[in-house]
Amino acid sequence: MKLTIENRKRIAAEVACKFLEDGLVLGVGTGSTVKYFIEFLGKMIRNGALRNIYAVPSSYDTHFRLVQEGVKVVSLIEFDELDLTIDGADSVLMNNNVLIKGGGGALFREKVINYAARKRIIIVDDTKINRRFPIPVEVHHFAIGYVLKSLRELGLKASLRSSKCKVGPCISDNGNILLDAEAPLELITAELEVKLNSIPGILENGIFSKEAEIVVGKADGSYEILKLG
Ligand code: 5RP
Repeated sequence: MKLTIENRKRIAAEVACKFLEDGLVLGVGTGSTVKYFIEFLGKMIRNGALRNIYAVPSSYDTHFRLVQEGVKVVSLIEFDELDLTIDGADSVLMNNNVLIKGGGGALFREKVINYAARKRIIIVDDTKINRRFPIPVEVHHFAIGYVLKSLRELGLKASLRSSKCKVGPCISDNGNILLDAEAPLELITAELEVKLNSIPGILENGIFSKEAEIVVGKADGSYEILKLG
């Protein structure tokens, strides 16, 4: 029998807990897979398996969940480096050696905790491997027209992400506009990550190229660990 996608996410989240040790300062990503990880983390704290774990959240959603589970929340003011970041992904492009992230709109802070960490664990279900997904881009509203034109010139087709809870554009936790940019597969590389961030007005983009271990929860109930970078 095939496991549901939710159960595959849960497996990946549980496996990620094997990387935890007392005293770690963790970056914690955002999304439905990370939600399971935070629940496991809470259980480990309550049953005494972990006592001193500090977490830097990548969104309001994750911050609220960490607090609810009794995890100590800190920031990059107290800690300028993280031991480990655990996060989800929208796509793992194995041939391009990159992740696409930001489907949940948290890419800016997720990129910061990704780069600030000495080690990265990405938790996904197997439908995320080589999945086509547009590149999320966070843009300051002042630059929106210029950024859309610059993306067109690079061969990307970008549109504003619509909010689901109000009329108009989706605004990030940082108060910025989110775009989603369709790009030819061969363009989605570490080079494009750098190129996009050199456009004035783009605050961050959803291509993640840092070395990472990818824990994949599979339909048959098993998991595998892939390496990126
Ligand atoms: C949020 C993200 C998430 O990691 C990504 O959207 C995956 O989420 P989920 O685990 O819900 O599929 O990048 O900005």
